[in-house]
Amino acid sequence: MSEQREHWGGKLGFILAAAGSAVGLGNIWKFPYITGENGGSAFIIIYLICILIVGVPVLLAEVLLGRYSQRGPISTFKLYAKKHRPFWMAVGGLFFLTGLIILSYYNVVAGWSMGYMVESVIGNISAFSSSGDAAQHFNQLVSNPLWIIFWQFLFVAAGGLIVYFGVKNGIEKIARLLMPIFFIILLSLVIWGISLEGSEKGLNFLLKPDWSTVSYKTILIALGHAFFTLSVGMGVLLVYGSYINKTDNIVFCGIMIAILDTMIALMAGLAIFTSVFAMGFNPAEGPGLVFHVLPAVFSSIPHGGIFSTLFFFLLSIAALTSTISILEMLVSSIMDETRLSRHHIVIGASALVFVLGIPSALSFGGWSHIGLWNLNIFDVMDYLSANILLPLGGMLVAIFVGWYLSKKDVLYELHQGFGLTTTKRNIGRVWLFLVKYVAPILIFLVFLSAIGVIK
Ligand code: PFF
Repeated sequence: MSEQREHWGGKLGFILAAAGSAVGLGNIWKFPYITGENGGSAFIIIYLICILIVGVPVLLAEVLLGRYSQRGPISTFKLYAKKHRPFWMAVGGLFFLTGLIILSYYNVVAGWSMGYMVESVIGNISAFSSSGDAAQHFNQLVSNPLWIIFWQFLFVAAGGLIVYFGVKNGIEKIARLLMPIFFIILLSLVIWGISLEGSEKGLNFLLKPDWSTVSYKTILIALGHAFFTLSVGMGVLLVYGSYINKTDNIVFCGIMIAILDTMIALMAGLAIFTSVFAMGFNPAEGPGLVFHVLPAVFSSIPHGGIFSTLFFFLLSIAALTSTISILEMLVSSIMDETRLSRHHIVIGASALVFVLGIPSALSFGGWSHIGLWNLNIFDVMDYLSANILLPLGGMLVAIFVGWYLSKKDVLYELHQGFGLTTTKRNIGRVWLFLVKYVAPILIFLVFLSAIGVIK
């Protein structure tokens, strides 16, 4: 290893940074539209179950593995896989690849958010007479390669700059600064949404389940999203976990991260659906919900420009604290394995991610005809990573912690900083049971159903 491993300044720093990773486009852009498309609260109930019995246990397993090994994913598997080492090293490589894929297209949407923030300031986002008009404006922008690549580049550069400064002085400082601002803006948007006349229709949509649209595919989407939203299944939390001090309570931290992430997704859903319904728009608009419908909503209310600026600022912050976590995972993996300095790696990795993202960026314009299974490149990246690679990664982490490490070591690591009362020992046992049996089996079954083996 080339440099001494850094650590967080404190438990709060870790919680905010990891919550910053978890809270992202997944919460504000994706969660509301997949909820809109998959039956409203019926989907939310399935999603919450996935978070509770699979997401949180695997999240804890990943953080624990990182703190235990004090290394990134590739080195961790290399060092601790006593059996089947080449296979596990390939898993580390898979995490790296998943990170590259997610980061490449994630930066594109993040770039749109930043671009839309500036469009809002100029006054371009609050003068639409219908969502059709807003959609047309959006399509015009995203099919313009210069606009899209410019914002994508700026976003990659912003993330790179933060990671350049390291764990404590870059990532932790930014998370401590931005997360509270994020929360205050979101809370104001929720209060505003609820105060609109007709907002109760949005509340109804979020509270009354419609089970008629639920299928195995819904469960796959909910499970995939549980991993995506918690940032689990590709080693990001493993790397963040490797910067935690041995005296910190990872059980408390893990639960806090999941609570914050879930609460923020629900708040974003509230802010969006109350305003969308109050203004009479359609909630099942798909990925365009935030960029087609919300601008039309902002156009139909007084001072819409201010709300629109705040909203896209919120989205940009959420995206930034997530992209830096993925970049940090890539950087840390390379740092473990080479003698290169953080600074050089950050520059190289950012350049790579930028170039890899260009096909996704062009998916909405000149390259929209290229793709697979009727999906454009951007959608292929999203589907592949969120619905397949992350649950697969999560399953592998659960198997590694549950079956490959010794039970004694795992429980020792879990209880360090957490304590050892009878209740805490029982929590440890239940957690290990979920990690060992429930999570891998459930994920496997959902996979089988998704590819049509069980109906
Ligand atoms: N959790 C982020 C979101 O909800 O937008 C996305 C993400 C970040 C996924 C980091 C995976 C990851 F490792």
